[in-house]
Amino acid sequence: MSEAAYVICALTDIPSRKAAGFQLAVVGENGAPEPFPIVVVRWGHQVFGYRNRCPHHGSNLDWEREQFLDPNGLRLMCGKHGALFEIGTGRCSDGPCKGDSLTPVALAVIDGDICVTGVTLVEEDEDLPPEENRA
Ligand code: FES
Repeated sequence: MSEAAYVICALTDIPSRKAAGFQLAVVGENGAPEPFPIVVVRWGHQVFGYRNRCPHHGSNLDWEREQFLDPNGLRLMCGKHGALFEIGTGRCSDGPCKGDSLTPVALAVIDGDICVTGVTLVEEDEDLPPEENRA
């Protein structure tokens, strides 16, 4: 498979120590698009990506929309039952799914842009400005 990198936003679009959600879609087994929601945390020059799906009951983490971090801003939090996840590893350190982990999403920062790698995304040409649509 090709090593495509899909630009999702500029690194500076996410303030340091903040998280943002993205509603992406991957090409599924039969070629149909499948939803691929992810959360990206930026920590200085580092970025961490995970599927936006809690290992406890499979809900999206941002029960309150775009609210991904705990009140201290130091861990990812699932708003549904309060599971807390280490930002660097995705491991649940407290809560109902303690010991489980978020599913990592491979990211790379290329020329100042955050890119998703390792999956084949459905590119929605019509919905994105051209500069956000580079492969
Ligand atoms: S669904 Fe996330 S803690 Fe229960």
